[in-house]
Amino acid sequence: MLADLKNSDPATGHSHPRVVQAIEDQARKFLHICGSDYYYEPMVALAEKLGRLAPGSGAKKVFFTNSGTETIEAAIKLARYHTKRQHIIAFHGAFHGRTLGSLSLTASRASHRAHFGPLIPGVHHVPYPFYRRSPGNQTPESGARESIQAIETLFRHEVPPDEFAAVFVEPIQGEGGYIVPPAEYLPMLQDLCRKHGILLVVDEIQSGFGRTGKMFASEHWALEPDIVCAAKGIASGMPLGAMIARAEISTWPSSSHGSTFGGNPVACAAALATLDLLEEGLVENAAKMGALLKERLTALRSRHKTMADVRGLGLMVGVEFCRPDDGHAPDRQLRERVMQKCFEKGLLLLGCGESTLRFCPPLIVSAEEVETAVRLFDEAIPEATGA
Ligand SMILES: Cc1ncc(COP(=O)(O)O)c(C=O)c1O
Repeated sequence: MLADLKNSDPATGHSHPRVVQAIEDQARKFLHICGSDYYYEPMVALAEKLGRLAPGSGAKKVFFTNSGTETIEAAIKLARYHTKRQHIIAFHGAFHGRTLGSLSLTASRASHRAHFGPLIPGVHHVPYPFYRRSPGNQTPESGARESIQAIETLFRHEVPPDEFAAVFVEPIQGEGGYIVPPAEYLPMLQDLCRKHGILLVVDEIQSGFGRTGKMFASEHWALEPDIVCAAKGIASGMPLGAMIARAEISTWPSSSHGSTFGGNPVACAAALATLDLLEEGLVENAAKMGALLKERLTALRSRHKTMADVRGLGLMVGVEFCRPDDGHAPDRQLRERVMQKCFEKGLLLLGCGESTLRFCPPLIVSAEEVETAVRLFDEAIPEATGA
C-alpha cells in the first residue's frame, strides 16, 4: 500500500509506539472499572485535559462514551434536559450517527433512514450553506443568508424559537461532502442561538483532534459552543467518545445518564497519549501537509476539467467531480471510477456527498506521501475517464 488517505484510520497512524505503550501500561494495571460508578486516574486526567482543549472559555464537564453516535445521544438528552425544550435543528447533508436519536438528526442520505421510522419527533432540517464553484450558482454569502433565513422561517411559521433546545451542526460537513461553510456562517448561527437561548452543539466527531489543522475545527471561527461532541480521532482507534459541555448547562443529576464502558481506562490512556502527540506537533503537521495537499490538488484542476472543486481545511480535503459539458452536474459515476483506479494503485480514498472524494490521511503524513498520493490521483483521473 502506497498511501492510505481514507477516513477510518487512526490519526496517529497504525499502532503508534507511544499509544501502544500507553495501552500496555494501562492494561497491566486494570482493564475496566465502570466510570459511571467510580472515578479512576486516566478518566479524570483526560476529562481535565479535554476541558482545557475544547473550544470556549469557562469550566466544562465531560461525559465519556464508546463512539460518536453515543456522544450525540448524550448531547440530545442533555440539551433537552437542560432547556426543558423538545425541538432540535439539524442540517440537510448532516451525518451524526445511526442510533435512533442521532439518526433522527442525520440527513445525508435517505437510505440511512429508510424503514427505521418513526424517528424521534421534533427534529427540523434546514439547508447547510453550500455553494458550487460553477457558473450561475449562488455565492457563499447568499448560501449563508439562505440557511439562516430557513431557520427564521421555521421560527415564524412552524415552531417558535423558545421551543428549540439545540442546533446540531458539523463545523465542516463530513459525510455530506466535505463542505466548509462560508466564513460568516457559523458566527451568525451562534448569534442566532444565543439570541433565543438555544444551545449550539458542534459535532466535531470527524473534524476534531487536529484533523483541520487546529485541535478543533470550531477554532477557525472562534466559536464558543455549549456542547462539543468528539470521538473518532480521540484515542487512535480505541473505542471512545466524549461530550464536552459548559459546566453551567450540565445541570442533570448523575442518575440521568450513564454508560458501563464509556471512558474505559485503556481507551482513556490511549487518548492521553494521542493528545500528547497531537500537541507535540501533529496538529501543526496537519495544517502544513493539508496546505500542501490542497495546493497540489488545486493545481491539477487546470488539467482535469472534471475536478469541479477542491475544498477543505487541514487534512480534511475533498475533490468534487462534475460533468463540465452538462451544466457542471455532479458526476457520481466518475467519482466511483476514480476511487477504484486509485485503490488499484494503492491509494485509499473514500467518497462523500454527491460526487466528492475525500482525502483524510493520518496526521503523521509526510510531504513525500502527499506528493505520491497526488501523483497517483493525477494518473487515475484520465484512466477513469478513458481520456
Ligand atoms: C460528523 C460525525 N458524527 C457522528 C458520527 C458517528 O460516529 P460513530 O460511527 O463513531 O458512531 C460520524 C461517523 O462517521 C461522523 O462523521
